[in-house]
Amino acid sequence: MREFALRMRVEFPRFLMHYRFAVDEMLTKVSILREEFLHLHRYNPIEHVSSRVKSPQSLLEKMARRGVTPDFGTIREQITDIAGIRITCSFIADTYRVLETLTSQNDVRVIKIKDYIANPKPTGYKSLHAILEIPVFLSSGPVPVICEVQIRTIAMDFWASLEHKIQYKYQGDIPERLVTELKEAADAADHLDRRMEQLHTEVHGDSPDDGAPELDDEVLRRLWEMARNR
Ligand code: GTP
Ligand code: MG
Repeated sequence: MREFALRMRVEFPRFLMHYRFAVDEMLTKVSILREEFLHLHRYNPIEHVSSRVKSPQSLLEKMARRGVTPDFGTIREQITDIAGIRITCSFIADTYRVLETLTSQNDVRVIKIKDYIANPKPTGYKSLHAILEIPVFLSSGPVPVICEVQIRTIAMDFWASLEHKIQYKYQGDIPERLVTELKEAADAADHLDRRMEQLHTEVHGDSPDDGAPELDDEVLRRLWEMARNR
């Protein structure tokens, strides 16, 4: 037991550290996407990004719930939401666009995609979920780390956080009346999402691309001179 405890004291924090690095990597990817998109299209599809690494406490609880043996290989394979990133987008089309762009990067390995927007959960829950594996570069070389990315609209996020609080309050045993109300609220959120997207498309068109980024005249003049004198 002493030996086990000693090993865990060293290895567990190291194990979790890899997930912190994976979160940092993903946040960098998302932030580059956001800035590049803004630069190219003068439009920001990402409203908000949040992230977390599961606490040791809640990791242990989930392992116990699922009967996962306390060995790092097994935990790594079976608990795929130790690193979590949540991306909130303005519109439904943006959620798919962001997912597509992230998953097509060639250091990203897609393990699983769940489209709860096309196929909402019976509760009314909607989001895109992606279980992805990305390399984290340590001094000893790259280590593949799994993370869960949830992508949703502001309306879906609003709904999910309220539903989560209600779940918590009733410990998963929500009264029938509230279940029905939540389902109706999910439909209302969906209706709002579609109307807002329609309005947006009406004003900006399907592709938000509206030309090249601006350069001030002085910079342009100097670039021109340089090109001419080559
Ligand atoms: P977990 O054990 O909860 O991770 O579920 P899972 O492995 O079956 O994956 P799933 O895709 O169903 O859910 C993963 C995560 O999505 C959850 O941890 C929540 O953050 C979120 N989620 C899924 N379903 C719901 C829901 O009905 N309501 C809310 N508020 N969040 C949900
Ligand atoms: Mg989870």
